[in-house]
Amino acid sequence: MSDQPYLLDNAWRQGRERLDAVEAFLDPGTIRALSAAGVAEGWRCLEIGAGGGSIAAWLSRRVGPRGHVVATDIDTRFLADAAGAANVEARRHDAVSDPLEEGAFDLVHARLVLEHIPQRALVLHKLVKALKPGGRLVLESVDYVSAVPVSALGADEHKRTQEARLREFAKAGVRADLGRHLPAMMRAEGLTGIENEGRVFVMEGGSPGALWFKLSMQQLRGRLTGPDKLSAAQIDQMLEWFGDPGWAALSPIIFACAGRAPPV
Ligand SMILES: C[S@@+](CC[C@H](N)C(=O)[O-])C[C@H]1O[C@@H](n2cnc3c(N)ncnc32)[C@H](O)[C@@H]1O
Repeated sequence: MSDQPYLLDNAWRQGRERLDAVEAFLDPGTIRALSAAGVAEGWRCLEIGAGGGSIAAWLSRRVGPRGHVVATDIDTRFLADAAGAANVEARRHDAVSDPLEEGAFDLVHARLVLEHIPQRALVLHKLVKALKPGGRLVLESVDYVSAVPVSALGADEHKRTQEARLREFAKAGVRADLGRHLPAMMRAEGLTGIENEGRVFVMEGGSPGALWFKLSMQQLRGRLTGPDKLSAAQIDQMLEWFGDPGWAALSPIIFACAGRAPPV
């Protein structure tokens, strides 16, 4: 098991809503990255930390009945829909401590997962081993360097609350700048043809990106509040701005980094 519990666990009462927001926000770019990686009919795919399952479901349609998708998560409660397809296996699986079949997949993909796992180097090594010769690894991770205010409305409070959030992330072993390190990490694992691209959005109040931030802040509220931390009033005000169309901030960079396992 991971030595730090996952901070934003799916069991939270609005966990499904939070994952819906992530999917609405990020799926179009993820689908472009996976399409560029060449995912095709008949491929065997591994989706690690599959969350709400929208990408596993997309992979299932893309690879068709001759292909196969293994969708893993430490908490598989939202994978039932994706697993309804005959070519999808939903697997309760901890990427740190549970074994993975080796040399088995044409594609391994994980989005917003490795940044949350302190033993990410070990996990990356396992993901690379799971690839067939010539198989593709596509990793997507955040880099919070870009997450600055846009609107004057709530600008100072956004900065303050984000700093508090990043401090709590760091204490829990979350790597909030992982995106920029993915190319070097993948190269060190022997992958070739490495390409990377980052996406940044203006997140306006009420948009899926702002809703993702709002629900994450709600879920982390207990950790963010306290002496030398944020007040309940500061958090309430920020939660309101996340829904206000007059509020805007830049999103974190969402890096997609792709590489290929060497042919044997
Ligand atoms: C931020 S969510 C992203 C979900 C999904 N990949 C997406 O982008 O829509 C992170 C997911 O990783 C899962 N997770 C966290 N630690 C994990 C671990 N050690 N092994 C497997 N999954 C893990 C969580 O349960 C959660 O579903």
